[in-house]
Amino acid sequence: MNLSSLPDDLAPQCLPQHIAVIMDGNGRWANHRGLPRIAGHRQGAKVLKDLLRCCKDWGIGALTAYAFSTENWQRPAAEVDFLMVLFEKMLRKELKKMHAEGVRIRFVGDLSGLSPALQQEMSRAMTETAHNQTIDFNVAINYGSRSEIVQACQQVAQKVSRGEMTADAISEETITQHLYTAGCDPDLLIRTSGEQRLSNFLLWQLAYTEMYFTDAFWPDFDRSELHRALLTYQGRDRRFGQATDRVAVGHRIVKPALTA
Ligand code: FPP
Repeated sequence: MNLSSLPDDLAPQCLPQHIAVIMDGNGRWANHRGLPRIAGHRQGAKVLKDLLRCCKDWGIGALTAYAFSTENWQRPAAEVDFLMVLFEKMLRKELKKMHAEGVRIRFVGDLSGLSPALQQEMSRAMTETAHNQTIDFNVAINYGSRSEIVQACQQVAQKVSRGEMTADAISEETITQHLYTAGCDPDLLIRTSGEQRLSNFLLWQLAYTEMYFTDAFWPDFDRSELHRALLTYQGRDRRFGQATDRVAVGHRIVKPALTA
């Protein structure tokens, strides 16, 4: 099957508009080939690049990738260093092309914990691509969902203590607007390598997201794997907690208003 454009068996009006990925299994992929773990990360970065292009080609509006968690600092220093250099190199090498293709890049996480050189590349990438509209590419780096929620609560509490809002006025929308991701909930989460957990990723944002778990290692997650994930997604019935007959199935999936 030619996968450069949307496969015929996928309905364009039912595609997820936002896909999030937990890119797991790089180390095991490398081990199975007798390669060092970093070879898995290098291949994983290539796969991410192609997946972004594929999402763009198939009309998916946003891709969010979990590149480095706040817990990942506990890995061997050589692996952490390799990943940091990989992020920086990829940015330097790919920014021009991504910009030309209309990609809007955003980094989410505690960016202040990263090296000044990397912070500078990231901020340049975000500024240069800020007005692009073809696809949003969010990269979670030094990201932890619980600490994201804590910092959102702190910001809201500060607004209350300054008298800019009342405690009663705090709503779900208020918290959403203070998260790093500020209001772009994924429709589909994909986690590779057979693990079935969220690992502190987008805990608030995934409240109504469809989950897809596959045994494939991330470096093997190509267009045909995405095709399989999307076929599964299109077979799901998203109810957002309501009765089946209240939600249109087979149409663009829209969260219904939560009326009584
Ligand atoms: C998890 O697999 C993977 C990571 C912690 C790193 C993910 C990063 C990339 C794929 C590079 C992305 C590049 C850019 C530019 C954003 P693992 O190492 O935990 O695999 P294992 O469970 O098999 O050991």
